[in-house]
Amino acid sequence: MTTTSQELLLSRIRDVQDYPQPGVVFKDITPLLADPKAFTVLTDALTELCVRHGATKVVGLEARGFILGAPVAVRAGLGFIPVRKAGKLPGATLSQAYELEYGTAEIEIHAEDLNEGDRVMVIDDVLATGGTAEAAVELIRRGGAEVAGIAVLMELAFLAGRARLEPALRGAPLESL
Ligand code: PRP
Repeated sequence: MTTTSQELLLSRIRDVQDYPQPGVVFKDITPLLADPKAFTVLTDALTELCVRHGATKVVGLEARGFILGAPVAVRAGLGFIPVRKAGKLPGATLSQAYELEYGTAEIEIHAEDLNEGDRVMVIDDVLATGGTAEAAVELIRRGGAEVAGIAVLMELAFLAGRARLEPALRGAPLESL
């Protein structure tokens, strides 16, 4: 991705102070989504990563990973699989719990969406602590598929999500635009 494209994307991410709680700076991507040029640049870049890493399926992480992952899947000609928060998928699921700063969370995938031989690209907007992405990697492996990589719009480096994810990735790439 060119520096000009990166600058465009960066200019469309809004920092919201003290949201959703005091002391947190929320990265709001709605200005980017509302700008067709920026959204296209982002979709193209994520699609290129899917192709480069030989993905055969795209997983999007609820909720913003759905918005980014779905057009990428269509553009790349691949199937899209939602990873949802627990209790939202109607079929037989695989579930994975993970630690939050306070408490735990759980995400799920439809077991039938994954097959041996699949190479899955995980797409999301933000990598923060890495907990969600790490749990998604576990789900994909438990479903018998391989992880082609993780691709995010941005990585909050100060939260060290990359270091947390590294053992789980087993050499698969973590790409942050
Ligand atoms: C945010 C973000 C990632 C996750 C990153 O989603 O979109 O999915 O947190 O955090 P982590 O790296 O610390 O796990 P959120 O849980 O706020 O869900 P939402 O997109 O449904 O609002």
